Amino acid sequence: MKVLGIESSCDETGVAIYDTENGLLAEKLYSQVAIHAPHGGVVPELASRDHVRKAVPLIQDVLKQAGITLQELEGIAWTAGPGLAGALLVGASLGQSLAWALDVPAVAVHHMEGHLLAPLLGDDPPDFPFVCLLVSGGHSLLVEVRALGMYRILGDTLDDAVGEAFDKTAKLLGLPYPGGKPLSDLAQHGDAKRFRFPRPMINRPGLDMSFSGLKTFTRVTWEENLASSQDTKTIDQLKADIAAGFQEAVVDTLTKKCQRALKQTGLRRLVVAGGVGANRALRQRLRETIKQHGGEVFFPALGWCTDNGAMIALAGGLRLAAGQYKPDAVIRVRPRWSLEELEPPGVS
Ligand code: KG4
Ligand code: ZN
Repeated sequence: MKVLGIESSCDETGVAIYDTENGLLAEKLYSQVAIHAPHGGVVPELASRDHVRKAVPLIQDVLKQAGITLQELEGIAWTAGPGLAGALLVGASLGQSLAWALDVPAVAVHHMEGHLLAPLLGDDPPDFPFVCLLVSGGHSLLVEVRALGMYRILGDTLDDAVGEAFDKTAKLLGLPYPGGKPLSDLAQHGDAKRFRFPRPMINRPGLDMSFSGLKTFTRVTWEENLASSQDTKTIDQLKADIAAGFQEAVVDTLTKKCQRALKQTGLRRLVVAGGVGANRALRQRLRETIKQHGGEVFFPALGWCTDNGAMIALAGGLRLAAGQYKPDAVIRVRPRWSLEELEPPGVS
């Protein structure tokens, strides 16, 4: 079954065609980063308008890349939430209209389900069940994944999401938006031991997380030390040391929480998904630690960690192939939508 997937929940227009028999046929991604960067964050109205401009040409591109016509599509999937309402509406209206026009089944996909299934796009996909660490710009979740649509949230962030903490810290240090990647590049040149960043909630039982304290610690450390730094070289080193200390604290905290989640559930497979899953230091530490403890860890390819259309086409394809299809006469989006509300295909 050839399924078109459309992702437009935030600042990336992603489009892909996934074939449930033959895998991913084509994908295209357009990032709006350059549009939002001058504003230091995503401007919702600009995001929606740009999705409108880019979605149709991208669909034409993926059809060409896959070597099929619009009429050969057998299903349509789009991100219906969570995300920015206006941005989501672009993908939902386009997807739903295409499905009506082509008279093919359609499915509204949960963005985070797309993220957590993304490793299934790779050559070495994990089997169910597994624990998923879902770390993006808007979410920091530990999820027990029993099967498609069977999700239990084990831990959540009490304040900032990890990606958000990366972005805010990077902004403070004057790095470009989105700051996760630039901050992690800078951290490679820093001394993670110069400042002792707190390890939020590590000593408390449970799997919830909190990252706003780290952000405050960064600000105080930056302001205190900047005053005594005279030349550019010292300031650059200060920035790198703060970046390294911050990243080390995040990696330490996430690793401990993942180990705890595996122990608590009795599972041995860990999947890491979402934009922060692209972080090199996190990937390395989790690989070492989880292996040492007899577990296995899976990461999507870097391009499938951050937002993309392939993960939405995949999630939609799996659900449609399993028979999930209820014709809908309304275009609906769900800017707030918990993963736990999802059900396996065929339940309702
Ligand atoms: O999953 P994603 O593309 O979008 C959301 O659904 O939020 O995640 C974007 C987030 C941003 O906060 C970005 O700074 C962060 O992922 N990110 C990283 C890295 N690459 C992207 N954070 C740390 N290290 C990276 N290499
Ligand atoms: Zn995302």
